[in-house]
Amino acid sequence: MLTEKFITLGITGGIAAYKAAELASTLTQAGAEVHVIMTRAAQKFIRPITFQALTGQPVHTAMFTRLTGWRVAHVDLATRSDLIVIVPATANILGKLAHGIADDLLSTTLLAATCLVLLCPAMNTGMYQNPIVQANINRLKELGYCIIEPATGWLACGQEGPGRLPALDLIFNQIKDLLIKISDWQGLTVMVTAGGTKEPLDPIRHISNRSSGKMGYALARAALKRGAQVILISAPTGMSPPAGAKVIWVERAREMYEQVLTHASKADVVFKAAAVADYSPRFTANQKIKKKDEVYLLELEKTPDILFELGQRKQPHQILVGFAAETENLEENARRKLAQKNLDLIVANDVTQPGSEFGQDTNIVKIIYPDGKIISLPQMEKTVLAHHILDLVLPLRLKK
Ligand code: C5P
Repeated sequence: MLTEKFITLGITGGIAAYKAAELASTLTQAGAEVHVIMTRAAQKFIRPITFQALTGQPVHTAMFTRLTGWRVAHVDLATRSDLIVIVPATANILGKLAHGIADDLLSTTLLAATCLVLLCPAMNTGMYQNPIVQANINRLKELGYCIIEPATGWLACGQEGPGRLPALDLIFNQIKDLLIKISDWQGLTVMVTAGGTKEPLDPIRHISNRSSGKMGYALARAALKRGAQVILISAPTGMSPPAGAKVIWVERAREMYEQVLTHASKADVVFKAAAVADYSPRFTANQKIKKKDEVYLLELEKTPDILFELGQRKQPHQILVGFAAETENLEENARRKLAQKNLDLIVANDVTQPGSEFGQDTNIVKIIYPDGKIISLPQMEKTVLAHHILDLVLPLRLKK
């Protein structure tokens, strides 16, 4: 699966360092050539010999050792790597990388690298939530480094909170996702709606909701990566849409309705991830509404249910996937929507549950089928979840 891939696995000095041993083994078993770099602190937690045995390669620990011929270790590993993955990434290595500090083999290799870099932070909650660490993480994300957010749970320091190394299968899946170019969605046209619609009251105010658009954009990006043509119908989100998508910007539910219906016949699969306002002001004032009376009554009218309309007109080859963000009776509400809107699948999440609130990078979802089957997925990055959803939808499409 990962044959001919050269992976440098960087290990820094956190208690989760022992988990990197299993990852080294999994990557090696998947066919990758794995070279391990350990920082000095990492070697306090786990010995290099473990990694040498698991990968069948020498472990790199020192800056000033010569490799074969004229090559120096950091440049050699940096140029040969298809991917560098840091497990665990301590606050220290994140800080050094974010500020261009290169004072050991790992940090020097990272600076010399032009390949994909995946960082898996794991540390005490206080350190992780420290604004300095958060600013470093944000800077690294902006610079194009891939970062898997830590999981929440029991930490070695005795606290509960964010900071745990995410499950190794999530890290492994992310590595596969970064390294394997699959085009199993080639030939399919996917329509994605994303973001929260805005319903204007006057030229200044609007009614909207707290949708970030992250799930829809992640789906669009994943589908593009897997070879699909993507039509992204987006309400304002403040994010840049993925390159390669045909983007149609809309603001109101009514505009989204018109654009979706205009383009629907081209779509093989529709992901209706947008949070569409259910009601819109009956009248939009031309001028700013002035404050006057103590009570201001707003008259709202129902917006068209876009997904319901699509369900009514569904063509035999089409797959419709809906989303349900609920605050109570998750399964019951989601099942009802699935049936009412004639969907092939619904992705439901409880927005009151930590890890799946609005605006976050992660989600915890249940995927519900028309026959009642439910797949409950653990908390994961929306970017990873998008691929899980595509994996589940593809067989439905092939059955049609
Ligand atoms: O009925 P509810 O709005 O909760 O259903 C959520 C699903 O329906 C989402 O997939 C959303 O994009 C879609 N929807 C729609 N048009 C609306 C309201 C919701 O397409 N007016």
